[in-house]
Amino acid sequence: MTEELDWGKLSFGYIPTDYNVRCYYRDGKWGDIEVSQSETINLHIAATALHYGQEIFEGLKAFRGKDGKVRIFRLEENAKRIIESAKGIMMAPVPVELFTEMVKKVVKLNERFVPPYGSGASLYIRPLEIGISAQVGVKPATEYLFLILVTPVGPYFKEGFKPTNICIMREFDRVAPKGTGRWKVGGNYAASLEAGERAHSLGYSAVLYLDPKEKKYLDECGPANFFAIKDGKYITPASESILPSITNKSLMQLAEDMGITVERRHIPLEELAEIQEAAACGTAAVASPVAEIDDLDTGVKYVVSKDGQPGPVVTALYNKLRAIQLGEEEDIHGWNTVI
Ligand code: PLP
Ligand code: COI
Repeated sequence: MTEELDWGKLSFGYIPTDYNVRCYYRDGKWGDIEVSQSETINLHIAATALHYGQEIFEGLKAFRGKDGKVRIFRLEENAKRIIESAKGIMMAPVPVELFTEMVKKVVKLNERFVPPYGSGASLYIRPLEIGISAQVGVKPATEYLFLILVTPVGPYFKEGFKPTNICIMREFDRVAPKGTGRWKVGGNYAASLEAGERAHSLGYSAVLYLDPKEKKYLDECGPANFFAIKDGKYITPASESILPSITNKSLMQLAEDMGITVERRHIPLEELAEIQEAAACGTAAVASPVAEIDDLDTGVKYVVSKDGQPGPVVTALYNKLRAIQLGEEEDIHGWNTVI
């Protein structure tokens, strides 16, 4: 019952909703969209998803606006990105039209779970594709399941829009230099679990990964991209091993709209000593400000927020992004799909 949900207190967790939507790829084509009330799937014991990690996913959000309308943020971008992920690990790509239709459908079916305007919460949409046909040799599946579940969520970092500390550790890489980092592949997240748990146990909200080849440049920040404000410029890493974040892309556009110069380039680790603000950005993280970055191997501490408060540019970008998502400000770039 949604009446029992305390929207303002939601964390980033799983709450059951009414429906999920599914579509199967068999005999070389996608079938009809199925609506399901079941929270489980029936899977072959030799499915490639189970043995060889043929699994990709997406993450996007729907928001209840000031006007009561439901808006889905940058749906087409996620549709395009999951196609790249599918090609990356040899899965059948979900056509943009099918992805779009299924996202709209699952949000509509679960509309009562879209948190109210002003609660700070949103409906997280999680599309997922897995290889389901039996295969014991290391080969791509011939059959796939694409499904979308939704769940209402609050902030990813429990602190919300408050600066947190992040850390650098060289003991773990989440991806290889020319590996799967640029795609949203489940295995990348498995590879990040130990580092993430270690960071959490030391009181850090996330790990700031360095490039896996030379460990000289910044890569990304746990399940989010990283950006910093340096002398009034927005700087963010260009790297082959990071996920191209749709939130980062949006913030770069908003920064340019505000007259801020954007630089997407290699950022040497030492440059952290010269930044004035920083944040982790992503669908779940939105723009989570960073207080301090501790290099656990060298002992160097880069203090970003001297007063423990988010900086002015990160705050302005965060507010602008939220205002567009919530329909408080005109969507001049056409990012929202109104349901
Ligand atoms: N990087 C990683 C590894 C992620 O898991 C995510 C989350 O989706 C992001 C970056 C941010 O991407 P987006 O802004 O498209 O959600
Ligand atoms: C997202 O921001 O959508 C993500 O996928 C991050 C995550 C919780 C894995």
